[in-house]
Amino acid sequence: MTKMPIPQSLHLVSLFTLLSLLTPSLAANIAAWKSRSVYQTMTDRFARTDGSTTHACNTTAGLYCGGTWRGTINHLDYIQGMGFDAVMISPIIENIDGRVSYGEAYHGYWPLNLYNLNDHFGTHQDLLDLSDALHDRGMYLMMDTVINNMAYMTDGEDPATDIDYSVFTPFNNSDYFHSYCKITDWNNYTNAQLCQTGDDKVALPDLYTEHKNVQELLIDWANEVIKTYSIDGLRIDAAKHVNPGFLKTFGDAVDMFVTGEVLQREVDTICTYMDDYIQSVPNYPIYYSMLDAFTQANVTSLFEQVEIVKNQCNDVTKFVSFSENHDVARVPSFNDDMAIAKNVLTFTMLYDGIPMIYQGQEQHLSGDGTPKNRQAIWLSDYNTNSELYKLLGQLNALRKHVISLGTDYLDESTVPLYRGQIELAFSKGVEGRQIIMLLSGQGSKGDEYTLSLPISFNAGTTVTEVLSCTNYTTVASGERAGELDVKMDKGEPKVFFPAELMEGSGLCGHAKGNVSFTKLVTGQDAVVDSAAGSLTAYRSSGAAAAVFGLLSVVAAGLLGL
Ligand SMILES: *[C@@H]1O[C@H](CO)[C@@H](O)[C@H](O)[C@H]1NC(C)=O
Ligand SMILES: *[C@@H]1O[C@H](CO)[C@@H](O)[C@H](O)[C@H]1NC(C)=O
Ligand SMILES: *[C@@H]1O[C@H](CO)[C@@H](O)[C@H](O)[C@H]1NC(C)=O
Ligand SMILES: *[C@@H]1O[C@H](CO)[C@@H](O)[C@H](O)[C@H]1NC(C)=O
Ligand SMILES: *[C@@H]1O[C@H](CO)[C@@H](O)[C@H](O)[C@H]1NC(C)=O
Ligand SMILES: *[C@@H]1O[C@H](CO)[C@@H](O)[C@H](O)[C@H]1NC(C)=O
Repeated sequence: MTKMPIPQSLHLVSLFTLLSLLTPSLAANIAAWKSRSVYQTMTDRFARTDGSTTHACNTTAGLYCGGTWRGTINHLDYIQGMGFDAVMISPIIENIDGRVSYGEAYHGYWPLNLYNLNDHFGTHQDLLDLSDALHDRGMYLMMDTVINNMAYMTDGEDPATDIDYSVFTPFNNSDYFHSYCKITDWNNYTNAQLCQTGDDKVALPDLYTEHKNVQELLIDWANEVIKTYSIDGLRIDAAKHVNPGFLKTFGDAVDMFVTGEVLQREVDTICTYMDDYIQSVPNYPIYYSMLDAFTQANVTSLFEQVEIVKNQCNDVTKFVSFSENHDVARVPSFNDDMAIAKNVLTFTMLYDGIPMIYQGQEQHLSGDGTPKNRQAIWLSDYNTNSELYKLLGQLNALRKHVISLGTDYLDESTVPLYRGQIELAFSKGVEGRQIIMLLSGQGSKGDEYTLSLPISFNAGTTVTEVLSCTNYTTVASGERAGELDVKMDKGEPKVFFPAELMEGSGLCGHAKGNVSFTKLVTGQDAVVDSAAGSLTAYRSSGAAAAVFGLLSVVAAGLLGL
């Protein structure tokens, strides 16, 4: 096994001492992550060192298929080509060897030794190189992390009596673990946190994360790994099964962006987690409603859920927005219509929070749940011409552009604008430079018709539908002033943005540039240099307040505010 050059942690050191020894971290916080979009890889299934696009990978067999960190390095163009600026990788640590009926530890969720790397994925140098390669491109590295449990292959033997705890590093005796019990009620959080998530083939001995020694060892380990590999953010696997008190302690101690898996639809539970215990969680309540809308034709569900989540959680902009991951069935397994997939991706990318797209969604893969949702991406030949690959490029470019015009876009929560029979419209962003998406659950056999959006932009505004590069103008006057008449066709999603603000976006024939909002609305370079990048810069600068006031008048005039 590859040894990480990391000192073995000291069991006796107190948490207080430990924290005080930490050097100030340059790691990225949630504010830095909010403007990012993340591509989730599963290391074993993303790219092989030999670059093969034919190497067979049987997802049902569940064996290692040969993906590596080196392979990932070699395919960063593919990821960056869609506009992503952060990558999440599988857990990096040594997992248990061997094989059960459903396979091996290719996913990385069966930890054995925290202080060794998983040598199926590569060496210490490979991981350092991956981190460097990402940072050279201005991209962030997120590490998936298991802090809930270790793993032991019991293969039918009784986990209550047949686990040899001495094999684990550093948790080499049973005192570090909750005593054995199997989860009997997944909705009873106490039960789910004290008992094991594993089964009778692979037991997942549940770490005693309420205990100070266990906490110190995990925090110490995490901070060492973060430092060694310059990691920018963490995902906590099975966060629901870790006692929430420790989630909070751990998140504070690693001092960087942390998101964690709480697989639950109930809004109040999810909000409680995000408000009290962990900075961010994947937005499962919205995920389920999104499926309702686009695979069950129930648009009411999503329309209402957007409001419910906004009202119940303190801050919806901290969520991770997703529509597929390695734990859930892929969207095309419910409905393989391409237009449906496009609507789902459009919502995922432009809704509140940090978008995270799971590898293979861009290739319209259709695996229906674990393990079939873990196809090897190389078998799709890294097709950069696929419709969804190109769509992601457009959506990322638009999102980046709007953020560059003002990071206040990120603080605005999505407003439901319109609900039709099978259509939904949402707005996000500062009035005058908001993005409006008009989505449809009809699918590609959908009709051609005209839909009048009653509320959109101000009367007489010319807006570009960014996905088809078509201009529309809202009705200028009269009773229907401000309405936007849209040609609906074949269930395609529509994304509108003021045409005058498209310059610099790299979309619809506009060159990609670094254009400030000021420049766009006045035609002048920014008066205050430091403020060129965004409008918010004016707001934060007292000296520039008067300039901002003046500019907003100009802006209001030009934008018809
Ligand atoms: C894939 O693996 C499963 C389970 O081991 C096996 O039943 C199936 O025949 C394999 N498929 C192929 C194409 O080899
Ligand atoms: C557990 O690990 C510690 C630290 O390496 C060592 O001192 C101790 O002897 C080990 N205990 C067992 C039961 O292996
Ligand atoms: C929840 O689980 C805990 C621990 O297993 C148990 O003591 C408790 O009775 C359960 N609560 C309910 C309401 O079932
Ligand atoms: C649509 O979703 C809403 C909200 O979840 C639910 O109350 C309603 O019963 C659903 N409608 C249908 C037709 O399934
Ligand atoms: C859309 O409108 C903008 C601004 O008026 C203009 O620059 C652009 O050429 C128009 N695009 C199309 C496709 O007509
Ligand atoms: C855009 O311009 C601003 C202000 O001149 C500068 O600070 C920023 O680094 C530029 N961004 C890029 C991506 O060039």
